[in-house]
Amino acid sequence: APRVFSGIKPSGGLTLGNYLGAIKRFVESQNAGTESMFCVVDMHAITVWQDPVELRRATREVAAGYIASGIDPERAILFNQSQVSQHAELGWIFNCVARLGWMNRMTQFKEKAGKNAEKQSLGLYAYPSLMAADILLYHATHVPVGEDQKQHVELTRDIAAKFNHDYGVDFFPLTSPVIDGPATRVMNLRDGTKKMSKSGESDMERINMTDDADTIAKKFKKARTDPAPLPETLEALKDRPEARNLVDIYAALSDTTAETVIAEHGGAGWGQFKPALADLAVERLAPIATEMRRLMDEPAEIDRILGRGAERAREIAAPILSRTYEIVGLIRS
Ligand code: TYM
Repeated sequence: APRVFSGIKPSGGLTLGNYLGAIKRFVESQNAGTESMFCVVDMHAITVWQDPVELRRATREVAAGYIASGIDPERAILFNQSQVSQHAELGWIFNCVARLGWMNRMTQFKEKAGKNAEKQSLGLYAYPSLMAADILLYHATHVPVGEDQKQHVELTRDIAAKFNHDYGVDFFPLTSPVIDGPATRVMNLRDGTKKMSKSGESDMERINMTDDADTIAKKFKKARTDPAPLPETLEALKDRPEARNLVDIYAALSDTTAETVIAEHGGAGWGQFKPALADLAVERLAPIATEMRRLMDEPAEIDRILGRGAERAREIAAPILSRTYEIVGLIRS
C-alpha cells in the first residue's frame, strides 16, 4: 500500500517556499486519503548548532504550521523525529551501507559547507543517510518534497537497493520523490537565481508564513523584477527568473497553472500584478498565520499532539527496525 512520508527541519521560521513546495502539497495528499506521516525533523536541525530554547520554539512552530494549514493529527501521523529513537538506530545502519563517494556527491552539503567543509559537523555530512532512515523506517513509498531535496530522495533509493543487495533480501522499497505543481522551487524575492530559504541574510528575500498583511504587501512590492510587463506566453518568461517566480507563486496560491496565470494576466504591468499577488497571498496565508499564533500560545497542546503521533509512529517503526536488525545479524533477546 502507498505510504507518504515527509519532513521539515525546525531551523528558523517557515517560509512561503516551505508552504507551497511542501505543506500545501502534504495537505492535498492527506485529503486524497493516502496514509501520510509528517515529521518535524529536529535531529536534522541540530546538524548545525541550535539554541535549545529556539529549537523548542521552532519545533512547535513547524507543528503549528502543519496543523494550521490543514494537517489533521487524527488522520495523518504528526510527530517530531527525536521522540522515535528508531530513526537514529536505522540511521546508524545506513551509515554503514552508504558509501563516502555517494556523500561526496551531495550538492546540498557542498553548498552549505562552502569552503569550510572541515569545520562542519560529521552529522551534517551524514545527514542524507539519516534522511533515508526517516523514509525507509516506515517503508514509505512516496516522498513529496521541493526540488532541492530530489538528490536526497534518490540517495534513499540507492541505500535501499544496496541494503537489499548486500543482504540478499527484498526488504526496503525503492522510494519515489514526488515533485509536482508550479512551486517546487520558490525563489528568493531579491535574486531569482537563488532559492527562497529560512536562512537567507535579509528578511526581504522571503515571505514567512507568520508575516502580517502589511509585511507581505511590502515584500512583494519591493520584490526584484525586470521592467517589462508580463508576457502573453510562458515561453517568453524563460530568461526572466524573477518574473517567472512571481507567476509560479501566483499559480500555486490560486491552485492553477502558470499557463493560466499568463492567459489571465499577460500584458499586465507590475503595478497591477504585484498588488494582486499580495492580496492573494494575504487571503491564503492570513488565516493560517492566525491559527498558528493561537496554537503557539498552547505549547502543551502541541507537545501532546507530537507525543501521541510519536507513539503511533513507533508502532509502525518497531517491527521494521527489529526485522532490519535480524537481517543484519544483530542479536535481540
Ligand atoms: P527543509 O526543512 O529544508 O524544507 C522542508 C520542505 O520544504 C521544501 N522547500 C521548498 N520548496 C519549494 N521552494 C523552496 N524555496 C523551498 N524551500 C524548502 C523542501 O524541499 C522540503 O520538502 N532534508 C529535508 C527534511 C527531511 C526530509 C526527510 C524530507 C528530513 N528527512 C524525509 C522528506 C523526507 C529538509 O531539510 O527540508
